[in-house]
Amino acid sequence: MGKCEKSDYKKEFCALMDKFAYRYSRWQVWNDFLTMSAISLANVVPGPEKEKREETYLSVINSYPKEEQEVFPEMLGIVVQALSDNPEQDFLGSLYHHLNLQQEQKGQFFTPYHISEFMSEIQFPGTGADEMPEGKGYISVNDPACGAGAMLIAFANVAKKHGINYQKQVLFVAQDIDRTAAMMCYIQLSLLGCPAIVVIGDSLAKPFPHPDNEMWCTMFYYLNQWRFAPGGEGEKQEGSVDMAEGGTATVSLEHPSGNIRLLEGTDGQLMLCMEPAS
Ligand SMILES: C[S@@+](CC[C@H](N)C(=O)[O-])C[C@H]1O[C@@H](n2cnc3c(N)ncnc32)[C@H](O)[C@@H]1O
Repeated sequence: MGKCEKSDYKKEFCALMDKFAYRYSRWQVWNDFLTMSAISLANVVPGPEKEKREETYLSVINSYPKEEQEVFPEMLGIVVQALSDNPEQDFLGSLYHHLNLQQEQKGQFFTPYHISEFMSEIQFPGTGADEMPEGKGYISVNDPACGAGAMLIAFANVAKKHGINYQKQVLFVAQDIDRTAAMMCYIQLSLLGCPAIVVIGDSLAKPFPHPDNEMWCTMFYYLNQWRFAPGGEGEKQEGSVDMAEGGTATVSLEHPSGNIRLLEGTDGQLMLCMEPAS
């Protein structure tokens, strides 16, 4: 896909945001969009927070009239398309800067993607395909000031280039003190199929794992968590979910804002996507 097409997604997204401009601030719409999208993706999997998150979802969506409610899944659809066409980007992070929403007092200057890519590349000692540490079934990567996840997205893509299937063999840990940033990161890592734990909290005072912090695990984390248990690629534990190799629509869940499906992309990687409710 050409560059022009990628920037069109930004334009399309902004056009949808503008539909709210007569009544709401961009900041509110952006955060409501992130909250609802993150909950849609998180609630694919049953978890202790599911019910509470569902209540939050309903209270946010019900604060908008019907015709405005329908815009949010369209916005998520654009994010899905943008990342599906070009997974090698920090789409939400650059959109956040484009909308001028970044909070400079928190040091929110997100790293340009090509620099994140370079920084990831130098973590790999060789250029061969088999770069997994000996005796380990997975590698882990942590960004304790994750922003929208640029560094981790780049790490996923670079790992893939080095022959590592990041959807199974990399455990991503992300933390940010700012909820907005953490939600962007969670949505992007979810859509790219990264097994990830995204934490909201102060990395200096309460670094991961800390019981006071709010934690959001991606669906691919739940699918693969048995791999990250002590012993690594051990026996699959009871209750873990099997992921079909290839095929389409291996997971499907109806949600008020649309149906979330797990589809196989053209490159063989799996990706979560949202189909707006009919
Ligand atoms: C310069 S941005 C970098 C974001 C991302 N790593 C990147 O490269 O694009 C720094 C991020 O750290 C977050 N942050 C600042 N202080 C923090 C703290 N004490 N604990 C966790 N995150 C923090 C900010 O909210 C911001 O999103």
